Amino acid sequence: MPRPSHTSLPDTVHSPLRIGLMGFGCVGQGLYDILQQLPEFGAEVRRIAVKNPAKTRPLPAHRFEYHADALLDDPELDVLIEVIDDAAEAFRLVKAALQQGRRVITANKAMLARHLPELVQLQEQFGGTLLYEASVCGSIPILRTLDAHFGSEPLRSVSGILNGSSNYVLTRMTQEGTDYAAALAEAQLLGFAETDPTLDMAAFDPRSKAVILAAHAYGLLLQPEQVLHLGIEAITPTDIAYAQAQGHKIKVVATLEQLPDGRVTALVAPTFVAADSPLYTVEHEFNGVSVEAAFAGTQFLRGRGAGGHPTGSAVLSDLAALQRQQAYGYTKLRQTAPAFTNNLAVEIYLRTPKENVLEALTLTDVSVEGSGPEGYFAVGYTTLATLLEQRENLRQAGALVVRTGPIRITEVAQQVAESALAQ
Ligand code: HSE
Repeated sequence: MPRPSHTSLPDTVHSPLRIGLMGFGCVGQGLYDILQQLPEFGAEVRRIAVKNPAKTRPLPAHRFEYHADALLDDPELDVLIEVIDDAAEAFRLVKAALQQGRRVITANKAMLARHLPELVQLQEQFGGTLLYEASVCGSIPILRTLDAHFGSEPLRSVSGILNGSSNYVLTRMTQEGTDYAAALAEAQLLGFAETDPTLDMAAFDPRSKAVILAAHAYGLLLQPEQVLHLGIEAITPTDIAYAQAQGHKIKVVATLEQLPDGRVTALVAPTFVAADSPLYTVEHEFNGVSVEAAFAGTQFLRGRGAGGHPTGSAVLSDLAALQRQQAYGYTKLRQTAPAFTNNLAVEIYLRTPKENVLEALTLTDVSVEGSGPEGYFAVGYTTLATLLEQRENLRQAGALVVRTGPIRITEVAQQVAESALAQ
């Protein structure tokens, strides 16, 4: 696991900053427009590389070129900004740029979640800088907050709504009774959703964001597959009405939590959110994150989590950080990482049209049980490890799982933890 010992940057920053922009989709256009409106910022988009020459774009054709590698070969570009869709190609470009010791900004959360250890190591080895505020929660400065402000403070938890598209769909279904498919089509039209909206609705996208947060909040480098992620593809008005009857809204909440024994867990799941939670009023494409710190107490950040201008604003903030010669400190990555666990119990609401998934979930302490036109439903306890193992089966069965309570150390896990502490 790489443990950076220093961050080094080239001595001078050219003014105005000469930018090489890779990608001109929602985020690229948002940033371009922001920089046009802020000539005093001191940055010039000198070259723009895109993939498809046939696509109609809002700028004259002469502004575009079609080989991103040509930007890598241009030593006059002070900053390379990667905002393309393809995670594998994004990694190739960012890696090549860091191997040259360049300053790079990316918004590609899937790429970061998969390759963060190597990207940190490349910065260490070649002296370049990678910033990626736009990758998590759009306009909310959560990464800089965790990295710089809370870099030295232990955190009890970091939790929140990290995906604007699924929150938009849930808001429209809850407030207006909009049909799931129609609400998703709106989110796509408004530019919030990924090109493949399954990434949003099946919670792959917030899982990537949780992995990135884990590195900055706890110094924990996770592989995405270690983190349970449950989505809302199977949600119906019946589920929303059930939650409302209990005084809750259903929101897709990512939770990173440090347990009293020091271990850390992470998951993303539809969750019952009560009216006294700050997340209750986070609607549409907005995101919200609570940070529960050892000494500061709890803080809550709320803002637009998707869309061209909000996400472009986070890239602008990274550009400003590069002008000031700033890089992530990765303080917690330099310390011994805490252990990660999924061996924890959680109360869930389960509704499944197919009962074949029930046996594997081994629900205990079942408090509600029944069946209706949309299948069997129950409220009971299972473990995060079981849900992770059964995730694909649950999805194929068309089941919805909603977390209804806090995470608990299971008896077996408790005994293991106690005997480890006693040694
Ligand atoms: N599709 C993402 C979302 C975009 O809906 O949150 C911002 O990361």
